[in-house]
Amino acid sequence: MEVYETMNKQTIQDVNVQGKKVFVRVDFNVPMKDGVITNDTRVRATLPTLNYLLEQGAAVILGSHLGRPKGQRVPEFTLAPVAVRLGELLGREVKLAPDCVGEEVSKMAAELKSGEVLLLENLRYHKEEEKNDPEFAKALASLADVAVNDAFGVSHRAHASVEGITKFIPAVAGYLMEKEIKFVGQAVADPVRPFVAIIGGAKVSDKIGVIDNLLTKVDTLIIGGGMANTFVAAQGYSVGKSLLEEDKLDLARQLIAKAKETGVNLLLPTDMVVADRFAPDAEHKNVAVDEIPADWMALDIGADTAKAYAAALEDAKTVVWNGPMGVFEMDAFAHGTTAVAKAVAASDATSVVGGGDSISALQKTGLSDQITHISTGGGASLEFLEGKVLPGIAALADK
Ligand code: 3PG
Repeated sequence: MEVYETMNKQTIQDVNVQGKKVFVRVDFNVPMKDGVITNDTRVRATLPTLNYLLEQGAAVILGSHLGRPKGQRVPEFTLAPVAVRLGELLGREVKLAPDCVGEEVSKMAAELKSGEVLLLENLRYHKEEEKNDPEFAKALASLADVAVNDAFGVSHRAHASVEGITKFIPAVAGYLMEKEIKFVGQAVADPVRPFVAIIGGAKVSDKIGVIDNLLTKVDTLIIGGGMANTFVAAQGYSVGKSLLEEDKLDLARQLIAKAKETGVNLLLPTDMVVADRFAPDAEHKNVAVDEIPADWMALDIGADTAKAYAAALEDAKTVVWNGPMGVFEMDAFAHGTTAVAKAVAASDATSVVGGGDSISALQKTGLSDQITHISTGGGASLEFLEGKVLPGIAALADK
């Protein structure tokens, strides 16, 4: 199966949900600190689906994981704070079930009326969830008439609430899922050209599959971040004390060769900001890639490189961005990432940004609202960019 075959899925608009019990798999795996949600983007992102279902007269049963409690009832991973936040956002009560399966939960689900919302407790309190156990999936399915997957962020996992459940009750996509498939899927499957991808982040090893696949799809591929060091070294330059994956040098050479073969304009740094240590107040300077001092480290792309990258984005019609260009958390090394963020925001392209760091960098620049689509998926959007079929999407009913 190819990615594009998973793009034509039924949505909540294709099924009648009035008076029905609807199980919605959401990805409420939100960052928390001391029991307080530090970023509720993933909760907000499901509101269009939830409001639609409630307006249509469905009784909504929500299932999510939070963290990785590995089949144990770890109190730290309770969804209780999420129930409170969702209640505030929806402006109606969100009941929290004591568990996600079992007699009491079945009773609560059975008694749930149209327009009411029940949030099940963390699905990963049961090891059967991640094992995609059929009995567990069946137990979840027994709570509802229809399943909706609005959890793009976890759709690369063939888990019981994501994949298994679709074998027992009809399953369709929610609005968030539809949007993610449309923007992330379409960017790779059928992009309007020129198609420019920007890939950054610390390590090449995290994104080999993505780069390899994008080299068969894009017109221009821009590389930045720590992973660029390995590409710079692969061209024969010395990168001093920079983060380097020696065992990926050959691979970087192969990817450079592949770009030549496929006619992709591969942009690598020509200059870098180097520092004498990894610290916000480190001494730093802008040098060409053939002048990196032996005991300094590259922490950002250089000024010329940033200009060249921004110029390459000017005429783009589709842009995909995943991963920062440098250590943007430290002001001295944020320039490259900010320059790329501004260029992506300024372009007329359909722009899709994924990955927690690129999203934080965008938020820092205050340009998020100028991006066409900010993906709620981390690992899931990377797998989509790799051209992999996501099991949670493949399992949904076709149009
Ligand atoms: C995510 O945060 O990327 C998703 O919620 C998936 O979480 P997981 O990597 O623990 O499966």
